[in-house]
Amino acid sequence: KDEQAEYKARIKQLLKDKNAVLVAHYYTDPEIQALAEETGGCVADSLEMARFGAKHDADVIVVAGVRFMGETAKILTPNKTVVMPTLAATCSLDVGCPIEEFSAFCDQHPDRKVVVYANTSTAVKARADWIVTSSCALEIVEHLDEQGEKIIWGPDKHLGSYIQKNTGADMIMWNGACIVHDEFKTKALKDMKALHPDAAVLVHPESPAEIVALADAVGSTSQLIKAAQTMDNKKFIVATDRGIFYKMQQLCPEKEFFEAPTAGEGATCKSCAHCPWMAMNGLKAIEEALTDPEGKEVFVDMDLREGALKSLNRMLDFSA
Ligand code: 13P
Ligand code: SF4
Repeated sequence: KDEQAEYKARIKQLLKDKNAVLVAHYYTDPEIQALAEETGGCVADSLEMARFGAKHDADVIVVAGVRFMGETAKILTPNKTVVMPTLAATCSLDVGCPIEEFSAFCDQHPDRKVVVYANTSTAVKARADWIVTSSCALEIVEHLDEQGEKIIWGPDKHLGSYIQKNTGADMIMWNGACIVHDEFKTKALKDMKALHPDAAVLVHPESPAEIVALADAVGSTSQLIKAAQTMDNKKFIVATDRGIFYKMQQLCPEKEFFEAPTAGEGATCKSCAHCPWMAMNGLKAIEEALTDPEGKEVFVDMDLREGALKSLNRMLDFSA
């Protein structure tokens, strides 16, 4: 506890000294979200993190999240210094969508618009026509479908199927998944619902279709937080990374939140409701990013940046 307080005090001073701002995702650990709030930074979903960093006048943006979030910040503000607690914080969706293979897949279907999730590399973003996050994916695909466009979707197959089901758009999918959401278990969730019949089930659409089918509300992190606030239920079973409980509990202190089960009784899983890469964002690593940024600064290829910026801006303009 004392050690944490000392880290926090030093980081606060460093943020001031360097005119830096801390931007954190809802899946980071509670002490990091609290620190971002206390220091005038932001805690947000991936879409809002991008917007916040882009309009803030800090010289340095510290992105506590995963690599694609840091790269997005750098693409949007190339003149700022963007650092991360660790550049090793990747995402299974990004890892599972290498540019060479994805680009070859797109080349086979030149008649289709390429729509990719923000959880991708700068190179994949540059190959895309549109970037989406889970906050705006439905609306953007709906819009493209209305224009008569056929779509290549990547990399998350679960989010893709959810959108396809809800829009009826003509989509072909890349076969990627989030290792955290992929672990939620249908039978165990049904059992849990039976145990708490008055609880509403909140599900992030990176989860498998059988889990989404059990949901009372489906949405991005910010949409799930809104649902927790606006629904009348007093109890919620939440199928997403447990980092989100910090904000839900803060906004709804009188409500109760339960983690959706990631494994049947006695079983184990690799990433039980907490992203191993989000978990790399510790206070010590944040302090280091500010004192010794060598190896923690985000750079993107400037040629790729141009292409990625175009598709990112399409998303930001659409969802403004
Ligand atoms: P949101 O865009 O809903 O915040 O989710 C992004 C994500 O998967 C972060 O890991
Ligand atoms: Fe990627 Fe899943 Fe981790 Fe989000 S929670 S960063 S989608 S692996």
